[in-house]
Amino acid sequence: KFKKRIGLIGFGCVGQGLYDVVEASRHLGWEIGSICVKDKEKPRTLPASAFTYSVQDVLQDPSLDIIAELISDPAEALVILRQALQKGKTVVSANKKVIAENLPELISLQQKHGGVLLYEASVCGSIPVLRTLEAYYGSEPLVEVRGILNGSSNYILSKLHAERGNFQSALAQAQELGFAEADPSLDVEGTDALNKLCILAAHAYGLLVHPDEVLHFGIQHVTAEAVELAASLNCRIKLVGSLKATSNGQVALQVLPTFIPESDALYDVEAEFNGLEIEGQFAGKQFLKGRGAGSHPTGSAVWADVAAAVRGYRYTYPKLCTSQVSATSGEEELTF
Ligand code: HSE
Repeated sequence: KFKKRIGLIGFGCVGQGLYDVVEASRHLGWEIGSICVKDKEKPRTLPASAFTYSVQDVLQDPSLDIIAELISDPAEALVILRQALQKGKTVVSANKKVIAENLPELISLQQKHGGVLLYEASVCGSIPVLRTLEAYYGSEPLVEVRGILNGSSNYILSKLHAERGNFQSALAQAQELGFAEADPSLDVEGTDALNKLCILAAHAYGLLVHPDEVLHFGIQHVTAEAVELAASLNCRIKLVGSLKATSNGQVALQVLPTFIPESDALYDVEAEFNGLEIEGQFAGKQFLKGRGAGSHPTGSAVWADVAAAVRGYRYTYPKLCTSQVSATSGEEELTF
């Protein structure tokens, strides 16, 4: 029986989004039972009494059913995920960098201690792509998965095309609107899209690949001249991440700025929207589009994971070869 209490760690853009969604869903009986933040001085939308400053207060509170890890510091997030999973807890996270870089260990921790980790919000915001890949395409060979995986880059490129706008001011707007990462170089250099691509690889192809091993370029070198050239060819430049099965049974992965013609489904994915084209060997091509960034869309995806976890859902990684899953690591200290 669930007590319907969520322990929230991190109260930034996504944490606030989850809080708002849960508040708006009070009729379902859920509440945020505890909120842990690090910075005591930062102005917040709730009174100081609403917060704890110790992660252990949340991790050791038996009245909390689910931990939502929504902090931006990847090293601290990893320690939190490890400690929670070592205690066999159910955890939801939106932290694509941590998940992409540590997926073998995070899967192994769940297998060993019986905890559950869901992270739909980490890839393409509110688009339910991980569940779709597992539930619908889990037994079908995939030809290709390609998409626009970073809302901030797409927002900037859309501004460059539509208004022939300035790169830096478009980036500043993406930051103001809460789309960009705390370190926006992750967005513009393609690293954020790369992390999401690696997570997709695990669910689409059963491939555990570290982001460092994958070719990627961001949009930092997209010039006004390149935008003009693309437009003159009736194309838009988009940052596209792709996974493609090769004829020798392997998977080719890359993230690259790409000229996209009008006839391509990705052409009309504009602003902070994300879009994915999934091509199954038998299903053919299907397309998913939705809000890839922002407080409420991402908060909604985290909330959907809470609801899924309550129903007993967990990822099955249907195409994964289990020998890829690594041994777990030791104990670390948290700094808050
Ligand atoms: N910075 C990310 C983006 C947020 O722009 O897509 C959502 O993962």
